[in-house]
Amino acid sequence: MTDELVRIERDDPIAVVLLNRPKQLNALSDDVMEALVSALVELDRAGAVRCIVLGGSERVFAAGADIGMLAQTSPVEAATSARLARWESIRQIGKPIVAAVSGYCLGGGCELAMICDVIVASESARFGQPEINLGLIPGAGGTQRLTRAVGKAVAMDVILSGRFLSAREALDFGLVSRVVATEAWLEEAKRLARDIAKQSPVALRLAKEAVNRAYEGSLRLGVEYERQAFAIALSSEDAREGMSAFLEKRPPEFRGR
Ligand code: HXC
Repeated sequence: MTDELVRIERDDPIAVVLLNRPKQLNALSDDVMEALVSALVELDRAGAVRCIVLGGSERVFAAGADIGMLAQTSPVEAATSARLARWESIRQIGKPIVAAVSGYCLGGGCELAMICDVIVASESARFGQPEINLGLIPGAGGTQRLTRAVGKAVAMDVILSGRFLSAREALDFGLVSRVVATEAWLEEAKRLARDIAKQSPVALRLAKEAVNRAYEGSLRLGVEYERQAFAIALSSEDAREGMSAFLEKRPPEFRGR
């Protein structure tokens, strides 16, 4: 089962991990996240692997948290569950992770790409934090990491409106480091991973951690705050309405409660 949700391809010294829940656009259910974390932890321990590529498919990286699952989540669960520990486990992976993003990269999917170390985007990539359309806010670091990557103005624009950024915009704003032809979405990320894998594993670990420290600063406090705020948003009637409306395929009616 887990093998199906996440495909692992070893091509030492790199490994490729592909999210594989195509019918739900790689929505990040607990099962998918569990499989992803165990794959990454295993590859982090594997001596012959020096760099990891994380991708979805040409059509979609990931369309976010599983909204059906989120609709069943209580605010208390959202603030305390194993789900938060999984995101932290991904942050703690010592080896460099290159995100290969093609197609939709939304909500928790965008947060997943941003927790990786480098993002290679295909021309068809679309980045967004559309939680606001559901009466929610990002809940896995999006308000903090997107703001640090692109600055306040663009982050506010994207997070408050729910609009998507094109690959070119993402490049201009500094969210991604390269944009490649759609058909090269995985090959270019692998090429970069192979270049990285030639370097000293010790230096790679140290460099990754050092850049993350520069980048994070008080991010932890920010993410703590975001967790509380996410749980509050999830407890609102508007969020129930937003998620029900999505699942029932109708426009939401938000009432501010
Ligand atoms: C569950 C999802 C899903 C999601 C898509 N699907 N996204 N299911 N959770 N996040 C399902 C659809 O219900 C549909 O199922 C199938 O995948 C195909 O999707 P369509 O909508 O028919 O495709 P399309 O018209 O091409 O539109 C693509 C899309 C749209 C623009 C990406 O699917 C969309 O807006 N998805 C939701 C994006 C979103 O709001 N993400 C943020 C989630 S909240 P059926 O059964 O009908 O075929 C979040 C919070 C993070 O991420 C918190 C972390 C803790």
